[in-house]
Amino acid sequence: VIDVRKLYSESGCFTYDPGFTSTGSCDSSITYIDGDKGILRHRGYSIEDLASKSDYMETCYLLLNGELPTKAESDEFKNQITYHTMLHEQMLNFYRGFRRDSHPMSIMVGVVGALSAFYHDSTDIRDPQQRLIASHRLIAKMPTIAAYAYKYSIGQPFVYPKNDLSYAENFLHMTFSVPCEEYKASPALVRAMDRIFILHADHEQNASTSTVRIAGSSGANPFACIAAGIASLWGPAHGGANEAVLNMLQQIGHKDNIPKFIERAKDKNDPFRLMGFGHRVYKNYDPRASVMRESCHEVLEELGINDPLLELAMELEKVAVSDPYFAEKKLFPNVDFYSGIILRAMNFPTSMFTVLFALARTVGWVAQWKEMIEDPGHKISRPRQLYLGSDARDFIPVDKR
Ligand code: ACO
Repeated sequence: VIDVRKLYSESGCFTYDPGFTSTGSCDSSITYIDGDKGILRHRGYSIEDLASKSDYMETCYLLLNGELPTKAESDEFKNQITYHTMLHEQMLNFYRGFRRDSHPMSIMVGVVGALSAFYHDSTDIRDPQQRLIASHRLIAKMPTIAAYAYKYSIGQPFVYPKNDLSYAENFLHMTFSVPCEEYKASPALVRAMDRIFILHADHEQNASTSTVRIAGSSGANPFACIAAGIASLWGPAHGGANEAVLNMLQQIGHKDNIPKFIERAKDKNDPFRLMGFGHRVYKNYDPRASVMRESCHEVLEELGINDPLLELAMELEKVAVSDPYFAEKKLFPNVDFYSGIILRAMNFPTSMFTVLFALARTVGWVAQWKEMIEDPGHKISRPRQLYLGSDARDFIPVDKR
């Protein structure tokens, strides 16, 4: 058997693969994607089954532990998560240090990183018990952190978690309740929120997950690693696309303008791209987008909303997928294309869209981080580079330059 890593390091050779288009960085048993067939499975279960038959808490358990929980395991897991939903009271002052008009993602990066300063008893990554508590804390506190970022931005008081509510319901409560009126979400809306969380739970080695793994490979504490993942997710080419899709649909405004924007997306001299279209791995319909589109219709019907943006999005999809440019490059709607329309119908401002993605993806980041740390053969991530700078040259003193 040839030890390829040894061979490369001893020969001084390495692969050159900018953007890691064909480089596997790890092995993993968590998520399987077949991009050509449009298949996504977590631990062997299809995303369609999980979205229609499971719930987010159960999916979290599955991602973290490898198996669906029994009833007793499920109850115990929910207990653990519920136990950790509160934020340290001192952290509320941390929020107050931010400007009111800060983007909630910037608050989230800061607050999640700061968890390591508040929960010292779960930062020793060598201790399995501490790793477990850190995982539970992250999953449990993320809805509270996200809801508080929103409350702070609109100048309303923070609403404490209510632990007799489900995970999704509790998040909606902390986001939309006010002291004089408790928000009551309909079961259909709670289900839709939960499904959005399931659809975003994990997606193997995307930019943010790889960032979490790289940060964690040095032995950094889990809270710092997840903060790094949130920072990476924020970009419009990744999780920031859901916010960008809605802005784009509003900019397009009317279906008569679609051809103009399609032409812009095809023009290589124009930086404009159809947001919510294309994916590094899927060269077929993103299976999450199909579920999201279905959910979108259900939510709008439930709320009695006739959103012209949904009509516009469906028309844009129809025109784009039948255009030879998009067909040849295999560009299809991704998970972000329809999610913004649902979230808008639920009253979330666009600035919260990527925050919701980060909340839901936390379990995936945590599961991938744990898998890496628990692999005795894992190494610090240290890519090489192709140096294209100057050759060796003599130093010239400043008065002679
Ligand atoms: N609109 C127009 N053209 C596109 C689009 C698009 N949305 N996406 C890709 N292309 C074109 C590129 O211009 C390129 O054309 P070329 O071969 O003539 O140069 C070709 O398709 C391949 O695109 P790349 O950027 O090389 O593909 P890559 O795998 O690096 O990027 C990405 C994937 C970033 C998702 C890209 O499709 C994109 O920018 N999409 C819009 C943003 C978006 O929706 N991001 C969310 C991704 S899903 C997620 O993170 C949850």
